[in-house]
Amino acid sequence: MAELRSRRSNLAVPGSNPRFLEKAKGLPADQVFLDLEDACAPLAKPGARKNIVAALNEGGWGEKIRTVRVNDWTTEWTFTDVIEVVGGAGAELDCLMLPKVVDAGQVQALDLLLTQVEKANGLEVGRIGIEAQIETARGLINVNQIAAASPRIETIIYGPADFMASINMKSLVVGALHPDYPGDPYHYILMQILMAARACGVQAIDGPFLQVRDVPAFEEVARRSAMLGFDGKWVLHPGQIDAANEIYAPSQADYDHAELILDAYEWATSEAGGAKGSAMLGDEMIDEASRKMALVIAGKGRAAGMSRTSSFTPPE
Ligand code: GLV
Ligand code: MG
Repeated sequence: MAELRSRRSNLAVPGSNPRFLEKAKGLPADQVFLDLEDACAPLAKPGARKNIVAALNEGGWGEKIRTVRVNDWTTEWTFTDVIEVVGGAGAELDCLMLPKVVDAGQVQALDLLLTQVEKANGLEVGRIGIEAQIETARGLINVNQIAAASPRIETIIYGPADFMASINMKSLVVGALHPDYPGDPYHYILMQILMAARACGVQAIDGPFLQVRDVPAFEEVARRSAMLGFDGKWVLHPGQIDAANEIYAPSQADYDHAELILDAYEWATSEAGGAKGSAMLGDEMIDEASRKMALVIAGKGRAAGMSRTSSFTPPE
């Protein structure tokens, strides 16, 4: 996981609104996804494709991961979305997001279409990744096959709004805990997605929180999936970006500690350190498993551009 790009905040931008597309370029999100699906009315989709192609080709996105969400395979729009967007701006695009994925075949269909469109336009074949949204009961029961369906898969994304509709959940507040249920009703879903993603070495991304003015509530929901190991979350409003960037990165203290464990363990296992398989770091016993845990935290910190504020000195 250490080498994956940082996706702490993934900003949703409706493709039908050129003003929002322009504004998104300057915002500090790790990733943007330019939407042709649910944030675009059916009549606005043809114009949105053109806006998106223009915005990608204009550039100015900095280091952000540039994704376009196409429409799902049950509609009449998916193939035109792919042909127009990849044909028009494929060199300026990092990923396509496929919503409402129900099985591996839908991912493979997009992979095949993408390959043809890449070839037809002289683009490097296989460079554009796929992000699969799990938004239905069927998608969740097939998530393990979906995550493994194509080498293009980069993320598995939880789509809580559609998902709650799919399972007939009796709440309209996406992702929030409910007084009628004592536990966390989303834990099972998040864990299934996380296991599938990790088994395939791809990222797990939490979906939107719709109460965009309530940043503390966003933070509470984000902390739950960040704690489990999710790599980032959608943000629907500029006000949610800083919170996501902070919550999905390790704290400075945890990042420093992880780097310290890596140095201390490397030294302990070296000849100079006595070639030991376990060692003490202060009051903490560390071994190979500690190194693996530290590598995850250090990897997330490095990907987020953090720098350490302490260094390791070998004991006398
Ligand atoms: C996102 O697409 C969702 O349905 O939550
Ligand atoms: Mg959705």
